[in-house]
Amino acid sequence: MSNLNPPRRLLFGPGPTQVHPRVYEAMGKPIVGHLDPFFFEVYEDIRRDLRAVFGTQNPFVQVISGTGSAGMETALANFVERGQKLAVFTAGFFAERLVEMGRRHGATVVCSSKPWGETFTGEEASAFIEREKPHAVAFVHAETSTGARQDLPAITGPAHASGAITIVDCVTSLGAMPINIDASGVDVAFSCTQKGLSCPPGLSPITVSPAAVDRLRDRKAPCPIWYLDLKLLLDYYEGAHRYHHTAPISNFYALREGLALAREEGIEARFARHQAMHDDFVRRIEAAGLEMFIPDEARRITNINTLKVPQGVDDVQARKRLLEKYDIDIAGGFGPLAGKIFRIGLMGPLATPDNVELLTGALIESLH
Ligand SMILES: Cc1ncc(COP(=O)(O)O)c(C=O)c1O
Repeated sequence: MSNLNPPRRLLFGPGPTQVHPRVYEAMGKPIVGHLDPFFFEVYEDIRRDLRAVFGTQNPFVQVISGTGSAGMETALANFVERGQKLAVFTAGFFAERLVEMGRRHGATVVCSSKPWGETFTGEEASAFIEREKPHAVAFVHAETSTGARQDLPAITGPAHASGAITIVDCVTSLGAMPINIDASGVDVAFSCTQKGLSCPPGLSPITVSPAAVDRLRDRKAPCPIWYLDLKLLLDYYEGAHRYHHTAPISNFYALREGLALAREEGIEARFARHQAMHDDFVRRIEAAGLEMFIPDEARRITNINTLKVPQGVDDVQARKRLLEKYDIDIAGGFGPLAGKIFRIGLMGPLATPDNVELLTGALIESLH
């Protein structure tokens, strides 16, 4: 028996989030080899269920071994070549990471930037894209650092009108909010497993539209990161099942189970549950005199709530009390929002009326 005893926290932060007991159980099952036919069956189950949560018919749905940032790097390294122009819409920390990665890969990066927490209208996106005429346009769907949600077609529409491909960070939204990849005009989307899918961190689902797959095929220079080269990965996962790297089998078991839970609940029902718990949370905190950070309801992420730290409250002390007294883990703001907001995740097994009640009660008590 292992003598490792992690504290039993309630993970109400922006991620990693609470892992469902069935996911833990799946992770404990015997591993098989990374070339075993059973592993590829598991992989195919995952691809089928990912299509449903992404909302896509794309044949290209794969999983990168690595966290959300590995998905981000895969998207940029495979779809933006050295010297090509990448336009990034930034209003938060993770959009800035897109900029940094794009630069490191030698892209000519141009930014349309707004203060953290804001989003972009179709007119703003259109004016910027028409002026810059980029090869690719990248942005974050649900900006975890601020709680703001970007309307997808507002940027993908103008991007496609000018012939650019769209790269969208869906790290926070996948599994908890509708993304509708095909209807929303997203060419390349990447995510993670430790937020809306209620699994441990370690994998990054990615989907690519047929048009972007054509661009990948036409690419002359090889992807500069061998580990994240999608052409090589396709040869492992789909084609000849040629060894590329040793896939982290237990994480794939976990993801399969997390997706099975979503399928059994019904994808639309799952999205509706997260929306309802968000509404319940907002109603409760507003009744207690607290204020959401994103004023406009339509621009809020539903599974990560950001609320203003009330005047006179030390956010570090409040979070410390929540952890020590209630075993509740939430996050604070950082960068320009340090000390100004709390970031609270209501996802997966914790997105239930009882848990919203427990959390809001403990939060309000801790603020006092
Ligand atoms: C929007 C967004 N993008 C990218 C990342 C990076 O993901 P990871 O920390 O899994 O590498 C995160 C992590 O929280 C995120 O919230």
